[in-house]
Amino acid sequence: MSTLHITGGARLSGEVRISGAKNAATKELVAALLTDEPVTLTNVPDIGDTAVTIDMLRALGALVERRGDAVTVTASGMTSPEVTEAFSRKNRIPILLFGPLLSRFREARIPALGGCNIGARPVDFHLAALRSMGADIVCANGMYEARIPEGKRLKGTVIDLPFPSVGATENIMLAAVLAKGITTIQNAAIEPEILDLAKLLQSMGAIISLDVNRSWVIEGVDVLHGASHRVIPDRIEAASFAAAAALIGSDVRIRDAEQGDMLSFLNALRRVGVRFEIEADGIRVFRAETIKPTTLETDVHPGFMTDWQQPFVMLLTQANGVSIVHETVYENRFGYTEALNNMGANITVHQKCLGEKACRYKHRNEPHSAVIVGPTPLHAAVIDIPDLRAGFSYLIAALIADGTSVISGIEHIERGYENIIEKLKGLGAKIEKGE
Ligand code: EPZ
Repeated sequence: MSTLHITGGARLSGEVRISGAKNAATKELVAALLTDEPVTLTNVPDIGDTAVTIDMLRALGALVERRGDAVTVTASGMTSPEVTEAFSRKNRIPILLFGPLLSRFREARIPALGGCNIGARPVDFHLAALRSMGADIVCANGMYEARIPEGKRLKGTVIDLPFPSVGATENIMLAAVLAKGITTIQNAAIEPEILDLAKLLQSMGAIISLDVNRSWVIEGVDVLHGASHRVIPDRIEAASFAAAAALIGSDVRIRDAEQGDMLSFLNALRRVGVRFEIEADGIRVFRAETIKPTTLETDVHPGFMTDWQQPFVMLLTQANGVSIVHETVYENRFGYTEALNNMGANITVHQKCLGEKACRYKHRNEPHSAVIVGPTPLHAAVIDIPDLRAGFSYLIAALIADGTSVISGIEHIERGYENIIEKLKGLGAKIEKGE
């Protein structure tokens, strides 16, 4: 297992280009299975999660070719309705295969899911929705087995999600585009990555629209065709670099960062006193002399993303006073703060809702609010990365800490950040891969 050796103190400057969004590209690779014709995606990041997804598509019999940042999927030769155990617990993508497999084979077998360890992450919304569309699904020996009765196909219906789940919304979309009739997803997720998936599906021949009050309306069609589509830039990667730049960047240009997809992040940056400038093809972020404390609550889009929380908490460890962050999307996404405290941060995690948003974790004994007292100088440490987004906040911690930190578990970061070492080095960070 390799490690990263990071020596803190170097100022970051220059330009970093943001890669394509992990959480759009992986879903769009799956969408390509809905047609026999080739689908070409460009700006596909070369990261662990796209590699696993491509391997999974190939194992199902699809032809997948990568040339630079372009990936072409041709699914006409697909042979298997089963995602094997080998893909179990690697990421969250297999569950999205229900739609493509059921519409092609009328059956699907999918193993239990992996992904970051940030809460229970059940898939009950997914299963209830697919069942209401006519799929019979049982779970046995760690596998979900789904079937559509003989002579039937998935049928459109009205699905009211208990919470605007990203994955459940995508799963229903992927099933609904080839279902019989109209599917309405109420209380749906409307993240930019989902809009990007909808754009690809429409290019493939789907009839799909975003209606009022977070509702998607999908009119099933009989067949989809090939298409070409450019994956949107990764707004989580962009925010991660912006947080690093605010702490240690003299002037960092984050090329391809999309202002429109990051409004609430940029508002939060401004509130804490970080200066940024919007440019035609990116956002420039300047180091803040003084960071002001703030209060913040994560939420579904268009709120402040749960995936921005970790680099932002890192930023708040250097704010001048007490900040409060209320995590309302996941029940257990502050586990990573312990390692920051070991480096000198002062973060306490609480079970109470420390915010005003309606939150599913009220009175549930879940550690989902954090109080951050800053500024605290950090010292280098030996750290093991527990999950993807926590991983980036550890990189930032090491970049501002006194001394050389040794970081293991970098495969978590490589699941979601393309060329992270080269990108940070390009900005002037002192970072080396070691044993
Ligand atoms: C996606 O996860 C992202 N992953 C996550 O990013 C992201 O944090 C999350 O959306 C929220 O934006 C991918 O796109 C691969 P959800 P997903 O379904 O779809 C609960 C990263 O670092 N829920 O929107 O799995 C669930 O437990 C990752 O890139 C149910 O209760 O998230 C959570 O509390 C981490 N039952 C909330 O909803 C269900 O059936 C939101 O989850 C489904 C979800």
